[in-house]
Amino acid sequence: MVRRSIIEPFKIKVVEPLPMRTVAERERILAEVGWNLFGVHAADVTFDFLTDSGTTAMSAAQWGAMMTADESYAGSRSFYRFEEVVRRITGYQHVIPTHQGRAAEHLLFSLHCERGQIVPSNNHFDTTRANLEQLGVTAVDVVCSEGRDPHLEHPFKGNVDLARLEALLAEHRGHVPFVMTTITNNTGGGQPVSLENLRAVSAICKRFGVPFLLDACRFAENAWFIHVREPGQGSRPVREIAREMFELADGCLVSAKKDGLVNIGGFIALRDGAWVPDLRSRLILTEGFPTYGGLAARDLEAMAVGLDEVLDEAYLAYRVAVARYLADGLAAVGVPTMRPPGGHAVYLDARGFVPHIPPHEFPAQAVAVELYRAEGIRSCEIGSVMFGKRPDGSFAASALELVRLAIPRRVYTQAHFDYVLEGIAEIATRKDSLRGLRITDEPAFLRHFTARFAPL
Ligand code: F0G
Repeated sequence: MVRRSIIEPFKIKVVEPLPMRTVAERERILAEVGWNLFGVHAADVTFDFLTDSGTTAMSAAQWGAMMTADESYAGSRSFYRFEEVVRRITGYQHVIPTHQGRAAEHLLFSLHCERGQIVPSNNHFDTTRANLEQLGVTAVDVVCSEGRDPHLEHPFKGNVDLARLEALLAEHRGHVPFVMTTITNNTGGGQPVSLENLRAVSAICKRFGVPFLLDACRFAENAWFIHVREPGQGSRPVREIAREMFELADGCLVSAKKDGLVNIGGFIALRDGAWVPDLRSRLILTEGFPTYGGLAARDLEAMAVGLDEVLDEAYLAYRVAVARYLADGLAAVGVPTMRPPGGHAVYLDARGFVPHIPPHEFPAQAVAVELYRAEGIRSCEIGSVMFGKRPDGSFAASALELVRLAIPRRVYTQAHFDYVLEGIAEIATRKDSLRGLRITDEPAFLRHFTARFAPL
């Protein structure tokens, strides 16, 4: 018998109250913050799906390790423990801790990229793109064509378009400092990249003599998808698959706030030592001594334990089942989502859900606001608020109008998700009455964080 329940593969030892507000209280809060969910206090959010980054519930083993951390400035035992775990999982010899992913990006890019170069990736994450662009480097997205169709069912929509990659490398020979691939592909909907595709990218990079780096924040989720979806991989342990993914590349940048199962932390790991002395010198200038890299030793301990825990197959089966449960539950009540669901988030398709709201009235923002107003759910608009402004300030509709429900790790139970689904089902019954918004005040850049709105 197939069971309906997704059993959480953990017991709960520490809890905190779930914030509860009335609809009237949330309506008052929305007016105060100008209908921008970034302005809402977390204490006024019942289900916080803003991000899966840094929002993990840590395990007893992680908290225990933190208590015994060695907070020495240089040569901390905690660093060597962390280094051993990263070496064992990735096979990379050189491990450089940083306080989070974007610090790793800034450190490596500022030393190894120059103005006028290009860096291809399936899809660059926002901070990756911004860190390249502020150096005058062009970040080029070369995700496969399947990855650009939100409704197509395909097992590996994070794959790189190999022909495009080859053409770019041929055209810009000598001007590509490295090729990147994001696993899983966050900007493309948390979609995985197949081992076959990683092998091909690796071979192309070798042929052109260009280093290959993974943006590996969600490496374990990617390895799990390979295990369950890629022909011939089902009998291999996830740990072995993860190791092969890393072996195909020359190094990785990691925000450990995702699959590191921690609230802060990141690292760079590299096979070859050539870049390491420069990286370590710059690290001392900007983050800290190479054996702590801007973190407390207790954070290194938490990462060391988390990076091993995340490769537990019972955990990964549960993790990926949660996103699928949410996406299937939404489909059952007529709410379209990006298909198939990724590992860390479900993306509600607002254009399909509220087609009567035109892009310039921000349909995804309207849905996100209603999820909060009616149900206390915080999500993130990824649509024309975030991407709809041209450099000259004029409006251009975003390609997609999405609402991201990112799922914190080990935080919410199946009962929580059932409650969320019931709430969204209720909203779906009166979706035709939802109205758009207009912007009343906005900053020059990155307006989604601070813009104010008014309902139409
Ligand atoms: N790369 C990817 C693929 C990411 O998803 C993120 C962060 C980063 C790099 C940057 O890492 O936050 O530690 O500096 N993504 C978060 C999100 C913020 O909500 O998707 P960071």
